[in-house]
Amino acid sequence: MASASSTTYSDAPIKVVSPLVTYTDDVVEAKYSYETTSVTVDEKGGLVAQPVTTGFTFRTQRKVPKVGVMIAGLGGNNGTTLTASILANKTGTCWMTKEGKKTPNYFGSVTQASTVRLGSDAAGKDVYVPMSRVLPMVHPNEWVVTGWDISGANLADAMARAAVLPYDLQRQLAPAMKAMVPLPGIYDPDFIAANQEDRADNVIPGTKAEQVAAVRKHIADFKASSGVDKVVVVWSANTERFSDVREGLNTTAAELLASIEKGEAEVSPSTLMAVAAIQEGCTYINGSPQNTFVPGVIEMAAEAGVYIGGDDFKSGQTKMKSVLVDFLVGAGIKPASIVSYNHLGNNDGKNLSAPKQFRSKEISKSNVVDDMVASNGILYAPGEVPDHCVVIKYVPYVGDSKRAMDEYTSEIFMGGSNTIVMHNTCEDSLLAAPLIIDLVVLGELTERMTIKQDGEESFHGFHAVLSLLSYLLKAPLVPTGAPVINALFKQREAITNVLRAAVGLPPENHMLLEHRMPGVGALSAMAGGAGPVAAAGGAAAEEVKE
Ligand SMILES: NC(=O)c1ccc[n+]([C@@H]2O[C@H](COP(=O)([O-])OP(=O)(O)OC[C@H]3O[C@@H](n4cnc5c(N)ncnc54)[C@H](O)[C@@H]3O)[C@@H](O)[C@H]2O)c1
Repeated sequence: MASASSTTYSDAPIKVVSPLVTYTDDVVEAKYSYETTSVTVDEKGGLVAQPVTTGFTFRTQRKVPKVGVMIAGLGGNNGTTLTASILANKTGTCWMTKEGKKTPNYFGSVTQASTVRLGSDAAGKDVYVPMSRVLPMVHPNEWVVTGWDISGANLADAMARAAVLPYDLQRQLAPAMKAMVPLPGIYDPDFIAANQEDRADNVIPGTKAEQVAAVRKHIADFKASSGVDKVVVVWSANTERFSDVREGLNTTAAELLASIEKGEAEVSPSTLMAVAAIQEGCTYINGSPQNTFVPGVIEMAAEAGVYIGGDDFKSGQTKMKSVLVDFLVGAGIKPASIVSYNHLGNNDGKNLSAPKQFRSKEISKSNVVDDMVASNGILYAPGEVPDHCVVIKYVPYVGDSKRAMDEYTSEIFMGGSNTIVMHNTCEDSLLAAPLIIDLVVLGELTERMTIKQDGEESFHGFHAVLSLLSYLLKAPLVPTGAPVINALFKQREAITNVLRAAVGLPPENHMLLEHRMPGVGALSAMAGGAGPVAAAGGAAAEEVKE
């Protein structure tokens, strides 16, 4: 009988017991059988599906480094909300509201506030653990945060300008926030809306090459003065217009570097920041929709062995869309029209009220249903897609409290139609800041993970385009030729299953045969047979320390 107590939760340290897993003081190493299915077409046009097993070894460095986070757009709504919230968590600062006392938390961060199923206990209950327990991960309370902004306001004033956090919390954090002043940023009025000009009082002068050099120096100086082991750079500055991509300008690393030397107008500030970060060996995350990652940047990152991840934080409306359309199409229901209205009143909304910057956001929001639609040829003819319209309006009064209204009209059984209407009050920056935390935590973790396929000589990292971060991003950037996955739960499963693989655990398959089939014993009995779980010796086992 199902009951609310069919699951349990524990945040105890985790021990993986398996002959396929070894721990040293430095690394955890796990041998892993990766099971996939290859599909080919035979001479009669039939599909031939063949299971394929590939052996891999994962090796993950266990020592959690001291991390510095540098945010482009530090003085913006996301930048100040993130910085202040980490400070509140770190110092345990509570605040009073008319509802009473509130305590800081990391809700909305998948690494800090979500759990994953580890397995089942002897009583058949699912045992859930914090995601952050599966492998050693950096904790935001330990970070050193700094960054750039074209507005020179100190972070106390910038936090007040953002009007996101409650007054009593701001009041307590203000003294510490006041001491933080953003480094100057790269301002180019051609790339962001003209209405941002009055903020731009803190800018890096000089040519594009000099600006890259200045940002590189900022990163190097910060690393040296703060004593952090590594730095992750996140773009949370204004949405830029798209850049041209053309031969001779930016289609290769060499072209891009030459264009920067020449001071080519078409190289955007965000691309300059990405180049500087890559040259300093720092993972770079793009939280906005523009095409920062022109082919020359991707090539540069691949050559340097540095990770890049993007594009555009996936916080509100798009997250709902990537769940709802997956559900509808997966249920055999045909979404025929998806109409999304937003209005928001923060500085992001002001910037997006300019047509070119809106267009960047529109593109980023538009492809989110593509893979789900293309997966179901019963519902959709080849090339057929639902009508999909996105509208964004700037309404200052609502501030950071973005309203998203969506209408999904679908074709259902026997010519009927079904309409779902949704109203989502997003609280923009309170949803986006935790995503920045996850992007940094997972981006840093992947820097410590290496993999080797059986037969390969040496371990290597992931592809420079870190598509594992897709769960957190609206328009996931993937390596050339790789499928773009938008369905949210597939994206989350990819993260949890890679974490599991790295400690030698099988992927979650949700089959629960032990509960569904008579005669199949409890897992504890199954573990008594052959296989990694039973065969494990104490020597192979060790605690996964935080
Ligand atoms: N839910 C969300 O908040 C959300 C979701 C997805 C994407 N985004 C994107 O994240 C970005 C930041 O959002 P926000 O609400 O914090 O916006 P914001 O306008 O409050 O903050 C952006 C900050 O960037 C600064 N800036 C502009 N150009 C700069 C440059 N070249 N270098 C350094 N700083 C620069 C601005 O002065 C501003 O303080 C936007 O592009 C937005 O589209 C936000």
